[in-house]
Amino acid sequence: MNDMTQPKAQFRHMKDGTAEDWNIIADNFGEFGKGLPGRIMDHLKLLQGDFGGFQVDRYTHCLQTATLAYRDGKDEEYVVCALLHDIGDTLGSYNHADVAAVLLEPFVSEANRWMVAHHAIFQGYYFFHHLGMDRDMRQQYRDHPYFSRTIEFVSKYDSPAFDPDGEVLPLEFFEPMIQKVFSKPVRSLYKQTVDKVE
Ligand SMILES: [Fe+2]
Ligand SMILES: [Fe+2]
Repeated sequence: MNDMTQPKAQFRHMKDGTAEDWNIIADNFGEFGKGLPGRIMDHLKLLQGDFGGFQVDRYTHCLQTATLAYRDGKDEEYVVCALLHDIGDTLGSYNHADVAAVLLEPFVSEANRWMVAHHAIFQGYYFFHHLGMDRDMRQQYRDHPYFSRTIEFVSKYDSPAFDPDGEVLPLEFFEPMIQKVFSKPVRSLYKQTVDKVE
């Protein structure tokens, strides 16, 4: 990327940018975008060894959540959401669900994005009361169209995925699904540029 032989835009202030400059940058953006699935997988691996007091580390928890969703017949986009729902734990220690939802947003349906964004509040039903919090906090969303979808996610896939004896398919198994889901944004500020570069 920092190879001196590669063409670079000439401007030092964006106000001086030309179409030629931006074609160079758009080409680079296209290449960089293709590496996103790899970067996502690398980031997910940062959860390895992070037990946080649970019986399985957060990486295993993510793989097991995806495995449960896959075995239950969920489609590829859903399984990828299940796999990545806790990817935000590394940098979003206080808002991990939001981080995952933002990463997924350009590539998945609103139903899946909402489910991932709200999984932490919905999962709180199982433990908020042990921490002096309201376990029914999720009830504020009871009339929301994705309420039951998110209940299903936390009850069938996310919450049972702390089992050291449960099935855990390896990341390699899910890699083709990640490649497919992250291959092209369906909603993004830069969608038009991405479509043009391809
Ligand atoms: Fe979570
Ligand atoms: Fe989780």
